[in-house]
Amino acid sequence: MTNAPRHIAIIMDGNGRWAKTHNKKRSYGHKAGAQTVHKVIEAGAKAGVKYLTFFTFSTENWQRPREEVTFLMRLIPKTINRYLQEMYENNIKIKIIGNIDVLPKNAQKQLKHAEELCSKNDTITVIFAINYGSRQDIIQTTKSICIDVCDGLVEPENIDEIFFSNCLSTAKIPEPDLLIRTSGEQRISNFLLWEIANSVIYITKTSWPDFNEGDLLTAIDFFNSKK
Ligand code: IPE
Ligand code: IPE
Ligand code: MG
Repeated sequence: MTNAPRHIAIIMDGNGRWAKTHNKKRSYGHKAGAQTVHKVIEAGAKAGVKYLTFFTFSTENWQRPREEVTFLMRLIPKTINRYLQEMYENNIKIKIIGNIDVLPKNAQKQLKHAEELCSKNDTITVIFAINYGSRQDIIQTTKSICIDVCDGLVEPENIDEIFFSNCLSTAKIPEPDLLIRTSGEQRISNFLLWEIANSVIYITKTSWPDFNEGDLLTAIDFFNSKK
């Protein structure tokens, strides 16, 4: 049995290119990618992974055509909702990182409901990074620490790596052991910059809609070969 990393973070990339090779619209690729998330959660839990983070929508993704953004803003909560009961029954904890306060109200409501419903579960924690940008998270954290210093609640000399980590949106989540990016690009795209300081990085040419259990196990084998 493979020795699974505790936390795998995934940059799910290539939905658009995958759709193009199938002569379909980008939305078709996003729909297929949403199915992959479901399968990878199952495969990750089976392999013994304890935390799985999915880069679902970046702060930069707002720059995409309005039609695509609108589609994703519907698809993301809809997909989580569709599998919510199953995730709840499979003892999956759901956590959202990123600023979802600017999302359409209905999306916010559905995401918060999913997080709340599964908050006591503990077999595997699935983290969806939605409207997430690591630089923004670091700046937000810095601001809140500055306020606490000004208010006399924190002494600057007590600010160390552990303290800072505990103020990020990923507080209490162990750092990723393995970062996977699908579809071949060698970029981090503003994802978990602080948290991946010591992570193994695995980039596969496979596009996200085609990524399956076998690919996840290959990535885990790669991780084990680097340990
Ligand atoms: C990843 O696939 C999905 C999101 C970023 C929301 P892309 O949409 O980036 O697909 P490509 O990179 O254009 O192929
Ligand atoms: C990263 O993929 C963001 C998500 C997976 C949500 P992108 O396709 O948006 O990143 P770039 O454009 O290649 O940097
Ligand atoms: Mg992309």
